[in-house]
Amino acid sequence: MSTVLVTGGNGYIGSHTVISLFENGYDVVVVDNLSNSKMEVQNRLEKITGKRFKFYDIDCCDADKLRVVFEENKIDSVIHFAGLKAVGESVSIPLDYYSNNIGSMIAVCRLMTEFGVNNLVFSSSATVYGSSEDVPFTEESPLGTCTNPYGWTKWMIEQILRDYAKSEPSKRICLLRYFNPVGAHESGLIGEDPRGIPNNLFPYISKVAGGTLECLTVFGDDYNTPDGTCLRDYIHVVDLAEGHVKAIKFLEKTEDSVSVFNLGTGKGTSVIEAVKAFEKACGHEIKHVFGPRRPGDIAVCYASTKKAEEVLGFKARYGIDEMCSSCWKWQTMNPEGLKD
Ligand code: NAD
Ligand code: WQD
Repeated sequence: MSTVLVTGGNGYIGSHTVISLFENGYDVVVVDNLSNSKMEVQNRLEKITGKRFKFYDIDCCDADKLRVVFEENKIDSVIHFAGLKAVGESVSIPLDYYSNNIGSMIAVCRLMTEFGVNNLVFSSSATVYGSSEDVPFTEESPLGTCTNPYGWTKWMIEQILRDYAKSEPSKRICLLRYFNPVGAHESGLIGEDPRGIPNNLFPYISKVAGGTLECLTVFGDDYNTPDGTCLRDYIHVVDLAEGHVKAIKFLEKTEDSVSVFNLGTGKGTSVIEAVKAFEKACGHEIKHVFGPRRPGDIAVCYASTKKAEEVLGFKARYGIDEMCSSCWKWQTMNPEGLKD
């Protein structure tokens, strides 16, 4: 049985990916420092899969501590989710973002070299396409002009991994650029569990729908889009998780040292369409008002899905209605999120 080390595997996307890996016959070892997730996730994963996964509470920047994981387990592939991801926070504490995101990636790479582990999947982001609005974004679209330190960490790590792969020809690296992951596992037992007031649209809408927050502010209604609100490529987190399994399988057979794939649906949904879809899922109105544009937002962002479809065999199965209904189930079953 092939073993995948999932760093950040206690987080939102990582936890869903652990399930998909398990369902596809992989053994999984999770490393997470719990900086943005709760230990209860591991109990929930056990409820869903019937298996208790090996878990290490370790900061991936600490190569000496992380070495133990490689010593105690025969790791075949790594998926590196561990990282800080709040765009606004990255503007206030950029050094923490650069040191955590880049430092953890470098420590993982050093250990992959030391232990002869060749396959790596890295969580990149559509944010590397920067402020361009030349949609759909293909994997060849120009990169850079990122609008915040978080985005630059992803851009820099992609470059570091290209250089790393050049220096070690046995390495097989997959850069996955996610668009907007939303939704939750069908069980309602795991989902997105942000600390404090959410910054992102879906967690915010969920809390308004659930009555914890009063009203959604729609950031801008004067964009050059059909209804004036921004278009995004929302992708169901369970589809995204499947994409990681496809990426691992692809790395097991490819000759290419670095491969890049967008993971999205290829479809743009406006903020107002998302609100309407959520209203349908929860069965009541979601109070919203229109406010000014949010600095740094672009009008439109969606993926070309052609390469992922043709090369990885990945195609998202779920649409906006399933994203909203699963989000709502997670919200109603866990109105306060998970306990620490
Ligand atoms: P998340 O915060 O829910 O998960 C990340 C996990 O990594 C958390 O459990 C956190 O505790 C852990 N972590 C952070 N730094 C660590 C470190 N140094 N050592 C060990 N563990 C550490 O975030 P997510 O939404 O699941 O995102 C996972 C990855 O995907 C991140 O790298 C993120 O940048 C990337 N990504 C996310 C989105 C998104 O919208 N959610 C979009 C594109 C890319
Ligand atoms: C979506 C739309 C907002 C909140 C972010 C990161 C990106 C990637 C995915 C990691 C926008 C609007 C939002 C609200 C609103 N993450 N909105 N009211 O900004 O597309 O992408 O997550 O890599 O890097 O930037 O996602 O969910 O914040 O916003 O009107 O209260 O919803 O203006 O149009 P975004 P989001």
